[in-house]
Amino acid sequence: MKTFIKWFGNKSRYKHIITHLFPTDIDTYIEPFIGSGAVFLETQPQKWIINDVNTDLMHVWTSVQKSVHTMAKIIISFSKTFLSLDKPGQLVLCRSITNKLSKMRYGPTRATYFLLMKYCVYLGSLIKNNKYYFRGLELNFTNSKYIPFFSKPIYIENLKQLSKFLNTTSGQILNQDYVDVLKLAKQGDFVFMDPPYIEEHQYDFVYNVNVNENETNCSSFINDLLKECKKLDKRKVKWLMTQADTPTVRKLFAKYDMTEMKVYRAARKVYTTELVIKNYK
Ligand SMILES: C[S@@+](CC[C@H](N)C(=O)[O-])C[C@H]1O[C@@H](n2cnc3c(N)ncnc32)[C@H](O)[C@@H]1O
Repeated sequence: MKTFIKWFGNKSRYKHIITHLFPTDIDTYIEPFIGSGAVFLETQPQKWIINDVNTDLMHVWTSVQKSVHTMAKIIISFSKTFLSLDKPGQLVLCRSITNKLSKMRYGPTRATYFLLMKYCVYLGSLIKNNKYYFRGLELNFTNSKYIPFFSKPIYIENLKQLSKFLNTTSGQILNQDYVDVLKLAKQGDFVFMDPPYIEEHQYDFVYNVNVNENETNCSSFINDLLKECKKLDKRKVKWLMTQADTPTVRKLFAKYDMTEMKVYRAARKVYTTELVIKNYK
């Protein structure tokens, strides 16, 4: 299954490399930094726990599970209106929806508009000065022949397929700090982690509104992460993590199995390497 939301750090391009390194025998699959879930959707585990600290994002996942038909109706209606407008009209529509987003009650309607605005906004970034803000239209929309992904029938089909998967397997959708989610892991489970990278904080890589800068302080985040990984080691839980390739990461995680993975950073238009770190051979 394909990802259904535009998200910073989406691992779709690398999901085959990553899943190839997973253990073969997994009880519950746990992904505490799920984002758009590229690796989860590739793995399709029968037992799973997915989590992210972003509340709007996790309402999207819950809405796909519980209210996919409501979501489909909103997406079809929005697409019809959006495609009938000229560029200035599309911008006004998206600005007005985005301005209302944070005042809407959590539920399938807010979740669907959040999902749609992530697709429509320039670079997929809806946040400015800690608030939702629609900075401009996604560049592709300047081409009048461009058909947005969300307005294609295949997109709705994909959502319905995902909803079926979420409802016919055994799982939990959580919205907590990753530390609390890792406490649920026991021997036999497997944890895949794709956390925010320390290097990316330097590039204002913002996932959430109302984030206290100290909470995501680079060095404390990576040190805490290492501490939590060690707790998993003690409980004999296998884990694999992707990380920025920095001297700090290499030093802190030196005792673990480490391989390099070549990646493309679309925002900066450069190739770089990331590290794949795991606590098993
Ligand atoms: C690199 S992204 C994950 C991308 C994902 N692998 C994908 O394919 O889309 C990192 C995610 O971690 C989440 N996050 C940041 N701090 C967190 C925390 N303390 N606990 C849980 N999730 C957190 C962010 O909201 C973001 O969605």
